[in-house]
Amino acid sequence: MRTDTGQVFRLEDYRPSDYLIPLTGLTFRLSPDGTSVVSELTVERRSGSTENPPLVLDGDGLVLKRVEIDGTSLDPAAYESTPDRLTIKTPPATQQFRVLIETEIAPSKNQALMGLYRSNNVYCTQCEAEGFRRITYFLDRPDILSVYTVRIEARRDEAPLLLANGNPVERGDLADGWHYAIWHDPFPKPSYLFALVAGDLGRVADSFVTVSGREVELGIYVEHGKERLAAYAMDALKRSMRWDEEVFGREYDLDVFNIVAVSDFNMGAMENKGLNIFNDKYVLADEETATDTDFANIEAIIAHEYFHNWTGNRITCRDWFQLCLKEGLTVFRDHEFSADQRSRSVKRIAEVRTLRAHQFPEDQGPLAHPVRPRRYREINNFYTATVYEKGSEVVRMIRTILGKATFRKGMDLYFERHDGEAATIEDFLKVFEDVSGRDLSQFALWYHQAGTPNVTVAASHDASSQQFTLEIEQSVPPTPSESRKRVMHIPLAFGLVGPDGKDIAYDSVEGATVEDDVLHLHKRRHTVRFSGVKERPAISLNRGFSAPITLSIEQSAQDQYFLARHDSDAFSRWQAFNTLLTETLISAFRQSRGGKPIEFSTDLLELAGTIAADETLEHAFRALALTLPSEADIAREAASNIDPDAILAGREALMAAIAQANADLFTKLYHDLSSDGAFSPDAASAGRRALRNVLLDYLSTLPNGAALAATHFAEATNMTDRAAALTVLAHRHIDTPEAKEALTGFEARYRSDALVMDKWFQIQASAPGAGTVDRVKKLTTHPAFALANPNRVRSLIGTFATLNQTGFHRADGAGYEFFVETVLSVEKRNPQVAARLATALRSWRSLEPRRQAKAREALVTISRAENLSADLRDIVERTLA
Ligand code: PHE
Ligand code: ZN
Repeated sequence: MRTDTGQVFRLEDYRPSDYLIPLTGLTFRLSPDGTSVVSELTVERRSGSTENPPLVLDGDGLVLKRVEIDGTSLDPAAYESTPDRLTIKTPPATQQFRVLIETEIAPSKNQALMGLYRSNNVYCTQCEAEGFRRITYFLDRPDILSVYTVRIEARRDEAPLLLANGNPVERGDLADGWHYAIWHDPFPKPSYLFALVAGDLGRVADSFVTVSGREVELGIYVEHGKERLAAYAMDALKRSMRWDEEVFGREYDLDVFNIVAVSDFNMGAMENKGLNIFNDKYVLADEETATDTDFANIEAIIAHEYFHNWTGNRITCRDWFQLCLKEGLTVFRDHEFSADQRSRSVKRIAEVRTLRAHQFPEDQGPLAHPVRPRRYREINNFYTATVYEKGSEVVRMIRTILGKATFRKGMDLYFERHDGEAATIEDFLKVFEDVSGRDLSQFALWYHQAGTPNVTVAASHDASSQQFTLEIEQSVPPTPSESRKRVMHIPLAFGLVGPDGKDIAYDSVEGATVEDDVLHLHKRRHTVRFSGVKERPAISLNRGFSAPITLSIEQSAQDQYFLARHDSDAFSRWQAFNTLLTETLISAFRQSRGGKPIEFSTDLLELAGTIAADETLEHAFRALALTLPSEADIAREAASNIDPDAILAGREALMAAIAQANADLFTKLYHDLSSDGAFSPDAASAGRRALRNVLLDYLSTLPNGAALAATHFAEATNMTDRAAALTVLAHRHIDTPEAKEALTGFEARYRSDALVMDKWFQIQASAPGAGTVDRVKKLTTHPAFALANPNRVRSLIGTFATLNQTGFHRADGAGYEFFVETVLSVEKRNPQVAARLATALRSWRSLEPRRQAKAREALVTISRAENLSADLRDIVERTLA
C-alpha cells in the first residue's frame, strides 16, 4: 500500500518531462511469488534540451535487482533507489541511451489489484492510473508515449495463454515446460494502457472486416466452460466496431482485438490497447443468469472500452487533470451508441436518472470538483460521476450548440490534428471553435467550475399584446474552495406548448439568442419576450435535458399535468410526471414526519393509470414513468433534515395509493404482458418485462401481494423476472414464508455462481428497515462472500450503504458502526475500493441532526485509524471539511 505523503498535485505545476522513452522492451518471467521483470528503455533527452538532469523514475513498492546503462551495470553510487523511486544521478550526455532495469514482484500477494496480480490463477494487470509503477520503474505519466515490445515467459501448464497489447509476433517453447510469446504494439502509448494476461482460459473467436477491408481477429477469453456466456458481448463488440465507423468515421487499427474477463477487478473494465480487460460481470450473460439491465450494461461497457481506442488511446491525455478528455467524451460516445441500438428517448431518461442519482449529490456535496479538476491528492478518487457523466453532458452541450454536422466536423478535426498525441481540454475545445468560428470561452466554464447551476423561471402571458414573457435567472452555488462563481453559457432546448399539445409558433423573440429551438443563456438574468403568442402556452424547458442543471419553474399544477399528458418531447413528458411525483413524495415525507395522515391527489393517481395503459407509449417509457423516485432521489430533492424512515413511509403510501386506485387496470395489464415465447434481450422485449415488473411492484402492495410475487418468482423463465420478484418479496414481505422460501431457493440454485450470488446479496442488502444491518453482518460470513473481491464487497456492503437509506442511516448509528469496521478491513487489502465505499457518507450534512452527529462520528473514526491509505484519507478528510 502506498503511504500517504499528503502531497497535492496541481494542474498549474504541469511541466513536460526532461526525458522521453520512445521504445520500451519488457520481459516477464512469470511466477506467483517472484516474477522477474526486465525493462529495456530507450531514453531520449527532450529535443532542444542540452542539459542532462537526473532521470527520476516512478516506482511503487518495488524491489530493484539491477540497473544497467548502455550495457554496463551501474555503479551503486551513480543511482539512488527506494521502493517508490529510482534516480539515475548523471545520465549519459548523449541524445539517446539505454537503461535496463530488473525488478521482482509478487503477483500472488497483490490484493490492491493494481499492477500485476492474480485473479482466479490468471495473471493480469491493471495500470491506469498509476499501476505501471508497481511493475517496474518508469516515467509513469500519460504524456510519455512509447512503442512496446513485450516478451512473456511462463510455465505452459500454468499459463498456456500469453497475451499482451498489439499484434502477436512470435511464440515458442523453452526448457523445463516453459514457453514464451512476443507481442509488439506499433502505436506509441502511455504506460497506463499497458496490459498482460497469462493463464488458462477458454476462447471465443470471431472476426470483423473493417470498412477498408482489413480482417481483424476478435477474441474473448473467459473461464473454461463459460464460453457460451460471452456471445452477447461478442455481438456487442462487432456492433460497436461498425457503429464507430459509421457514426464517427473511426476504423480499428490492429490485427487483433482481445477482451479478457477476470473476476477480481476494481472497476468496470479497462481499455488497454488491443487487450481490454473486463470485470467478468460486464462480459458474462445469458437469460438464466443476467437481467436486462446487465445486458444493457454489457453492451454499453463493451462499446465504451472499444471506443476508447480512438478517444483515449490514439489520442490520450497530457496529464490526469485531463481525465475527462477521454472519459467524458467516451461516455458520450457510448451513450449515443446505446441510443442508436435501443430507444433514444428511453435511453436519455435513464441517463438523466443516473446523472441525478450519482453526479448531482457529488456536485452538491463536499466532494464537488470541476469536470476538469485543478488539484488532487489521489488520482484514483477522480474517476467520478462528475468526470464521466457530467463530462459527457458537456460534450453533448457542445453538439447542441454547434449542431450535429458542425460537431462531426469538429470531431474529425480533433482526430486529424491530435492523433498520436497526449492532448488537453483546451485542444479539444479549440477544434470546435475552429470549425464553428464560435468563441467557446464562456462555455469552457463547464469544465472549470464545479457545482450544478440552478435556473429559475417565471412565465407570464399578456393576451392583449400577445406577448409571452420568461423571467430567467441563473446561479451556481458555492462549492469547496470555489465560493464565487461566474455566469455560465446554458443551452436550453424548449417549446411553447399550445392547447392541442403541439408546439406553437411565435413571430419573434428578444432578450436572448434562440437558435433551432434552443434558448442560450449567457447572462445572470434574461427577460425573454416572445411576440405573436395569442394564447397562453405551457412552457416546456430543458427538453431532452439539454443542460445538466436544476430547474425551478413557477408552473401551475394544471400546466404540469398538461405537459405530462401532452408534451411532444418524450423526455420532458417524463420529467413533468416525475416532478409531480417528486413534489408529492416530498410533501408525503413531511406529513409523515409530522405524524399527519398522508393524502394524495386523485388526479395524480389517475394519471399513473393513464400512462400505464397508454399504448402509444413504449413499454420501457411507461416503466420508467411509473418507477417512483427512489428514497435517495426524494432525500436529494428535499435537501435537508432528512429522516429516511419518513421518506420510506411516504413512498410506500404513494405506491399503495396508486395501486389501489388502479387495481383492476394494473392487474389486467400485468396479465396481458405475460411473456409470449422465447427470450430475447432486445430493448422492446426488455421494455415489456420492465413494465410488467413495475406493475408487480405496485400489485404486491395489495392483499395477497406476497402470493402474487411468489407465483411470479416460481414462473419466471429469466433472471430479470426472477430477480424482480425476489426483490419485491425481500423488500416488502420479508417476514412471510414466501420470502424465506424464495431466498433459500435462489441461494440453493445459484450458490456456485458468484455473479448471480451478487444479486442475492444486493437484494437483501437493499431491503429497507432496521433489521437489515444484522442480516448484512451475517451475510459477510456466507461462503459466497469474500472481502477481497470487489464485486462481492460492492454487492453487499456498497449496496447497503448507497441503496438502503433506512438500514444504513439507522437512527441508532448501528449501520454506520458496521460500515466503518468493514471499510477499514477492506482498506487493508484494497484502498481504492475502500475509498469508493466511503463516499457513501458524502451527503451526511443533509441528515436530521441526530443521524448527522452519528455519521460525523463514523467519518472521524475512519480518519483516526492508523496507517490510513492516501485513497481513504483523501475522501474522508474532504468529506469532513
Ligand atoms: N479507464 C477505465 C474506463 O473508464 C476505467 C478504469 C480506471 C479502470 C482505472 C480501471 C482503473 O473505461
Ligand atoms: Zn472510460
